[in-house]
Amino acid sequence: MKKARYKDLADRLSTAIQEGKLAPGTKLPTHRAFAEQCNVALATATRAYGELERRGMIVGEAGRGTFVRDLGLPPTLGVRQTANDGLIDLVFNMPGDAADADMLRAGLRRIAAAGDLEAMLRYQPHGGRTHERRIIAESLASRLGPIDPECLLVTSGGQHGLAIIALGLLQRGDGVATDTLTYPGFKSLAALQGLDLIPVEGQGGVMDPDDLERQCRARKLQALYLMPTVHNPLGAVMDEATRLHLIEIARKHDLLIIEDAAYAFLEPDPPPSLVSLAPERTVHVGSFSKSLATGLRLGYVIAPAIQIDRLLEAIRATTWNAPALISGLITGWIEDGTLENSEKSRRRDGTERQRLCRTALGGSSILSHRNAGFAWLPLEKGVRAEPIVTRLKERGISACGAEPFATTVAVPQALRLAFGGIPKDELGAIFQTVRQAIAGTSMCR
Ligand SMILES: Cc1ncc(COP(=O)(O)O)c(C=O)c1O
Repeated sequence: MKKARYKDLADRLSTAIQEGKLAPGTKLPTHRAFAEQCNVALATATRAYGELERRGMIVGEAGRGTFVRDLGLPPTLGVRQTANDGLIDLVFNMPGDAADADMLRAGLRRIAAAGDLEAMLRYQPHGGRTHERRIIAESLASRLGPIDPECLLVTSGGQHGLAIIALGLLQRGDGVATDTLTYPGFKSLAALQGLDLIPVEGQGGVMDPDDLERQCRARKLQALYLMPTVHNPLGAVMDEATRLHLIEIARKHDLLIIEDAAYAFLEPDPPPSLVSLAPERTVHVGSFSKSLATGLRLGYVIAPAIQIDRLLEAIRATTWNAPALISGLITGWIEDGTLENSEKSRRRDGTERQRLCRTALGGSSILSHRNAGFAWLPLEKGVRAEPIVTRLKERGISACGAEPFATTVAVPQALRLAFGGIPKDELGAIFQTVRQAIAGTSMCR
């Protein structure tokens, strides 16, 4: 059977995009111009573009035109979030929506209109530009208390913040206490740096101080890694009493406390931060990835004055400085209120996503934060995660079990679902598929 004309055009454009003849960001002709070029009716050209948009290869932007998408990326803006292999990705949490592109456009325009642009082309101080350190420090004061800008270093994202701590303040063989389920990026850093992760028991993402005390007695530990405000993956917010108890043990055994606050903004009313309760021994890591944009790569580390030189040396040895163009964009968004609005809207968005998740999957056993774009589903006794993950893959969904997060040898059976970047109107159907996959696997036990 002869291929429809619009499909033929879509296939040809698709080949040109896949072969790199049309680069990401290229503006395509208007529908009318394309129709004239190809000598087809306007409706046929429109259908061809529609087909390519459906395949996620091009994107129409209101009032601006139609553009080629970057196929090397998991596309999240307005199109379903897919992993590189075409599966819907429930593994990585990449919040974001189409309006973010307008935010970037406005930010770039503001920078282009500013004076002394040439300064951005030069090497910057390792810890960041002085006025930007001040802007970030002041913006954090309401959550963290007063911060000396000299003790705040600008990094290329939260992961870089953790890396300079591992490089600058820890040594191969050091023992670092962690939760039994923790952030995989910290696990991979520890593996590279030869740090010894010591799992400490806890309840739902809140570390048990008594077990930390036991572990400290069993061997000398150097550091304690915690996500007290919105734990990844469990979403927990640790209460103040537990924070104080853990700090007491850290003081007794002289542990450096690493406080990871990558998701802390999701909790609008957090207990006092560890850095405010124990500023003499806490290095606090923050990031704008989840509150603004994962791709811009900006974060910060707040540390005791005595640690600053080593951390600056680690920044020098890794990136020299975070790019001024990026820090300029983000501090501009702090000053004009964009960051605060974005944080609020991400919290609201997370609340809706959690509601959809709990409606479809039944709320009782799910562990998550009420505003987060991710959730943790412990599986019933005897049900294993692996066959569920396989089933989901067959149905076009990429999910994972507990393994990437586990620091214990015995890995608990659970599913991690990250859904912050998936269009909300698709989530109901996706969660139903997850529910069916769990039910199907439980029945085959
Ligand atoms: C707990 C935690 N810490 C740090 C990071 C790293 O953040 P960034 O994207 O800023 O490197 C992440 C990213 O997912 C995270 O979940």
